Amino acid sequence: MDDNELSGMIAGHVAIVTGGASGLGEATCRLVVAEGGRAVIADIQDDKGRALAAELGEAAVFEHVDVTSEDDISGVVDRTVERLGRLDCMFNNAGIVGAVGPIDEMPLDEWQFSMDVLLKSVFLGSKHAARVMKPQGHGLVLATSSVAGLQGGLGPHAYNMAKTGIVGFTKNLAAELGPFGVRACAIAPGKHATPMNADVVFGDPEALDRSVQYFTERGTPLKGRPGLAGDIAEAAVWLMSDRAGFVSGHTLVVDGGLTTGSREGAEPGGGRFGSHEPLLREGGRRGIDPR
Ligand SMILES: NC(=O)c1ccc[n+]([C@@H]2O[C@H](COP(=O)([O-])OP(=O)(O)OC[C@H]3O[C@@H](n4cnc5c(N)ncnc54)[C@H](O)[C@@H]3O)[C@@H](O)[C@H]2O)c1
Repeated sequence: MDDNELSGMIAGHVAIVTGGASGLGEATCRLVVAEGGRAVIADIQDDKGRALAAELGEAAVFEHVDVTSEDDISGVVDRTVERLGRLDCMFNNAGIVGAVGPIDEMPLDEWQFSMDVLLKSVFLGSKHAARVMKPQGHGLVLATSSVAGLQGGLGPHAYNMAKTGIVGFTKNLAAELGPFGVRACAIAPGKHATPMNADVVFGDPEALDRSVQYFTERGTPLKGRPGLAGDIAEAAVWLMSDRAGFVSGHTLVVDGGLTTGSREGAEPGGGRFGSHEPLLREGGRRGIDPR
């Protein structure tokens, strides 16, 4: 089989992808559909989400979902099962950079807002997915952690706390849901060219080409290879598939070797996260105008 040939490895599967309108989530929705599945694009960026759903056709639908709202999460799970008859994967992926700056200057409300988007969201998505997957007898609860949840110095404090929490919670969830035939996994991306990182590096979420170039030259020990959104989509779709049917409780690191200890990736407490700036809440993302 050609390396790039699609195999229909998740034919008929239904996946809800939070943060599905952009970056890693968008790439995952595209691959879910390409591999024969159906994708529910759950996001607060309505225009981008609707445009993606229109492009992907009948196998995709957009739903406005704020991942900090239990009603929104519960609603999208219920509507998905009503409409499509099943839920094979709940991908709790939406995220923001969140509160930045030194710990002694971090306002509590900015920390709390960040934890709500990054961690409460994973609790809510897992809770309502489990509610339908347990009686269904199968499914995957998947979340996006980060290399910043595996090592210090790779992200701001609230981000680190949330992403570390996801790694531990994934193991606990796997232990609880395994007897029901339901798996739980996480993915820890490294540094990937997405709107979030384009904003961090260049202050412009649209600067994707420049980000690809930037991450080709630095960020991992892997020569000449930037982290792309598609790398995480590949990992996510493999984890959704039966080929990963014995993988549970695991956080799959997809980082080009960044966490091997290479000096390339580390920015201890520095870079764009070193000084406090007010948290931009609109659209849920730091520094990004959702329009
Ligand atoms: N890009 C990377 O290198 C990288 C590395 C490690 C982890 N991650 C994680 O991957 C995930 C996706 O990041 P990305 O790089 O694709 O960023 P992105 O900004 O391109 O996409 C994030 C999406 O989440 C959505 N979102 C934000 N707040 C939301 C809310 N309250 N409700 C619903 N949707 C909301 C945004 O609208 C956006 O569409 C995040 O959890 C991020 O922390 C990314």
